[in-house]
Amino acid sequence: MKLFETYNQRSLIFRNRIVVSPMCQYSATDGIPNHWHLVHLGSRAVGGAAAVIAEATAVSAEGRISAHDTGIWNDTQVQAWQPIAAFIAEQGAIPGVQLAHAGRKASVSRPWEGGGALSAEQGAWQTVAPSAIPFDKHWHVPQALDAAGIRKVVADFRAAAARAREAGFKLIELHGAHGYLLHQFMSPLSNHRDDEYGGSFENRTRLVREVITAVRDVWPAELPLWLRISATDWAEGGWNIDDSVRLAGELSALGVDLVDVSSGGLVPHVRIPVGPGYQVPFAARIRQEARIATGAVGLITEPAQADGIIAGGGADVVLIARASLRDPYFPRRAAQELGATIVAPVQYQRAW
Ligand SMILES: Cc1cc2nc3c(=O)[nH]c(=O)nc-3n(C[C@H](O)[C@H](O)[C@H](O)COP(=O)(O)O)c2cc1C
Repeated sequence: MKLFETYNQRSLIFRNRIVVSPMCQYSATDGIPNHWHLVHLGSRAVGGAAAVIAEATAVSAEGRISAHDTGIWNDTQVQAWQPIAAFIAEQGAIPGVQLAHAGRKASVSRPWEGGGALSAEQGAWQTVAPSAIPFDKHWHVPQALDAAGIRKVVADFRAAAARAREAGFKLIELHGAHGYLLHQFMSPLSNHRDDEYGGSFENRTRLVREVITAVRDVWPAELPLWLRISATDWAEGGWNIDDSVRLAGELSALGVDLVDVSSGGLVPHVRIPVGPGYQVPFAARIRQEARIATGAVGLITEPAQADGIIAGGGADVVLIARASLRDPYFPRRAAQELGATIVAPVQYQRAW
């Protein structure tokens, strides 16, 4: 059984291969995490995951998806993250945070409030993107970033990484997937620029490479850095798996330790062959061809399935999202089902 083998990255030891995938809670005010985030993330650390990655956390106010996203662009937010990261670490899990900028998909309402573009009365703000192309009908038309705007994005990611360290996080995942800003630059469908940030593969991937370099500059060498990508846009003329393999091949040299392989989100109305583990083949191919560690995510719901992915060389870790919302003790249940032993918190030992 491989799912409960430890895993080393830089100075960290993952106690098993199960990671709680970042999940927006849309429950913060002014970007400041609160009791909800402590209990939500804390429960999953108690549940036995090796790492718990806090939701897409904005590097700037305009980079939030909704007005209720968490942020990490000021010191008040850092102070609020500190006890959360500390609690996760006290439970033996690695506290991680996903750093994000929503680009043209920013300024929307919460999913349970419709999820559409905010009106002016609802507090809409100006969104930004590589090009002035909206995500869909009825979405905001973003402003194309100029050179100074791009420099600010890079600087915001750098400052956020420095703050993540102050907050006590030990793992950063950069959000380069799901149609958010970094992905918008990567895909020819959303990037129509004719400067050094658009056109060729090299130009379209320039921003993500600059962000990685800036983050690595302030993020300690003994701590890991991950990048989440969408392996494919599932759309003609979009970013695809060959692009992903090519980019992944350049990442180790830039200081990225693992590629977390998701897909989609760049354009609406595409057909995605969703099914159990449907994104695992992308993680496997990137791992094999680009020779970099990968994380597999997406409809991984069963312990034996998760173990098979690691054992079969599909990925180095599995990220579990909805199954861990349904059951914060997913890793404990997986251990029981697979016949592994994991240490329960002392307070709970009489139950195990
Ligand atoms: C409530 C919710 C919030 C999510 N928020 C994020 C997020 O902040 N960042 C991200 O990269 N993915 C996010 N996702 C996607 C998940 O991380 C994951 O990739 C996806 O749900 C597929 O995994 P699953 O089948 O285990 O749920 C979210 C998913 C859910 C259900």
